[in-house]
Parts: sequence; C-alpha cells; structure tokens
Amino acid sequence: MRGHRRTWEWVFAGLLTGCVPLGQGMAALQGTQAGSTLSGTARFTPMDGGLRITVTVAQAPPGRHGIHIHEQGGCGDSGNAAGGHFNPDGVPHGLLPKDGLTRAHAGDLGNIEIGADGSGTLTLTVPALTLRDGPYAVAGRSIILHEKADDFGQPTGNAGGRIACGVIAVRP
Ligand code: CU
Ligand code: ZN
Repeated sequence: MRGHRRTWEWVFAGLLTGCVPLGQGMAALQGTQAGSTLSGTARFTPMDGGLRITVTVAQAPPGRHGIHIHEQGGCGDSGNAAGGHFNPDGVPHGLLPKDGLTRAHAGDLGNIEIGADGSGTLTLTVPALTLRDGPYAVAGRSIILHEKADDFGQPTGNAGGRIACGVIAVRP
C-alpha cells in the first residue's frame, strides 16, 4: 500500500509541475558556480528505439558546450562529485550516437548549442542506453554541462570545467 501511495504522490506532483509521465527519468540542471543562474531540465524517456533524451537549458553562455552522463549521482564540489564519464566498458571517448558503445563512452552525448539568448535544446534517441535496467542504465548518475565544446579528443573531449549538473532520478 505504501508503494501505491508514493506513486500517487508522484502523479500529483507531475500534474502540478508539468505532467512528468511515470517511468521517466528527470534531472534538474543547476549551475555549479556560486551565483550562477544557469538552469535546465533533462528528461529520459524509454522508447521502442532506445532512450529518448531531451535537454533544455537557460541562462547559459552562448556557443557549443559538451554534455555528458557522468558515472556518479552527485553534483557537489563544483560538479566533481559526478566522477568521470559513464564508461562501463573502459573504451575511448567519442560521440555515442555516431560511434556506438565500442568507440564511445556510454555517457558521450556530444554537444548542445546555446543561442545568443542563453537557451538551448538537445534532443536525441540513443539505442544503447536504458533508464533503469542493464549495464547501460542512466538512472542514479549525473548529467554534466561543460564550459567548452566537446572536440571528441582523448581522454574526455577537452570540454573544460563543469558549469551545470543534475542527478538523474526516476519517477516510480
Ligand atoms: Cu562531461
Ligand atoms: Zn566521454
């Protein structure tokens, strides 16, 4: 009964906050630097073709910024608590949608383009990833927005500091 009650609490919260479907992952991105007004949302929705990932960011520096799933679910210490790129197979850095799991980290989502108004959206569907099940599940990890563009160089794309971070949680 307790489980039911928690589920209904989430449904109610979803109705209030913009209808988050059950079984979806979400991360609230927040700036890691003191005084930062950067904010954003990442949604992770299991689909037939893979995990659909939609990231929206506001009040970020214009330009291209690397965006990755990092291994640990934590944003402390200016985002360093998130650890390294999610890389369960110990393979080189790359662009997951293009290079696949043998030539890219499971967390290598590439770049998000931020416009002159400080906002940007990235939408991609990644066949390799899952929300909760198996070795490539993203729930309980973190999503990191970087200071600079990911140039896909080794070992982690030369994207600089971690300017925003959010922990990926699942609606039960
Ligand atoms: Cu990263
Ligand atoms: Zn990587």
